[in-house]
Amino acid sequence: LFHKHPKELHLASDGPFGKFDRQQLQRGFQVYKEVCSACHSMELVAIRSLQDIGFSEPEVKALAKTFTVPSLDPNTGEAATRPGLPSDRFPSPYANEIAARAANNNALPPDLSLMTKARHDGPAYVYSLLTGYQNPPANLPEDKRPGTGLHYNPYFPNLNLAMAPPLSDGQVTYADGTEASVDQMAKDVAAFLVWTAEPKMENRHRTGIAVVIFLIIATALAYLSYQNIWRGRK
Ligand code: HEM
Repeated sequence: LFHKHPKELHLASDGPFGKFDRQQLQRGFQVYKEVCSACHSMELVAIRSLQDIGFSEPEVKALAKTFTVPSLDPNTGEAATRPGLPSDRFPSPYANEIAARAANNNALPPDLSLMTKARHDGPAYVYSLLTGYQNPPANLPEDKRPGTGLHYNPYFPNLNLAMAPPLSDGQVTYADGTEASVDQMAKDVAAFLVWTAEPKMENRHRTGIAVVIFLIIATALAYLSYQNIWRGRK
């Protein structure tokens, strides 16, 4: 009744001919880095894979250093941290789940690597969630109203999300001059999370198209040889 289906979202990567819009993926990464990575990891995505969306090797090295990853002290063997390397995955900002929950009203910020695959209509869901915060409607039953530390969002299955609205207009300054409205940032980060969830999507599309073309040609040849073999027979 109150839960809403995701809004419509169109991305360059949609459909069998879809290609990533690398400019948009870079903007989406900027949103992830400057906003989302304060709480969310992407443990399946290597930092160096940013080269696939157009960052140079030195840029990636510099970016990697801005992340802090868990490690062991080489002398004492105790838990420590070090600056990230391109071969690291995007780390959680928290030492462990207890620390993560303590910082988030007992909720756990999920890893975002596969978020657009893990949720139904994932890219549109992420976009809708980020743009969907609002005041609870007047007729919302008492037991569905957000408690302390929760935020009403009709796109979240249980309507009340422990994540405060992470985006506000102008929160990042885009290198390509795009205006950073909440709507734009939400689209860009959704597009970016389509890429993190399936970085080889373009290869899959290309292979699919090649297979279909091959099948059309093979079918045509089979039909012609069938006609040839049966020519003159009734
Ligand atoms: C949950 C995305 C920023 C804390 C989520 C979910 C998504 C998401 C997709 C999952 C909803 C679900 O389970 O279906 C993002 C994006 C961000 C961002 C794209 C940046 C634009 C942040 C920040 C914080 C945060 C900055 C912390 C201050 C949380 C928490 C949850 C969550 C605690 C769990 C909510 C719950 O289970 O009630 N986020 N997030 N997020 N996020 Fe974020």
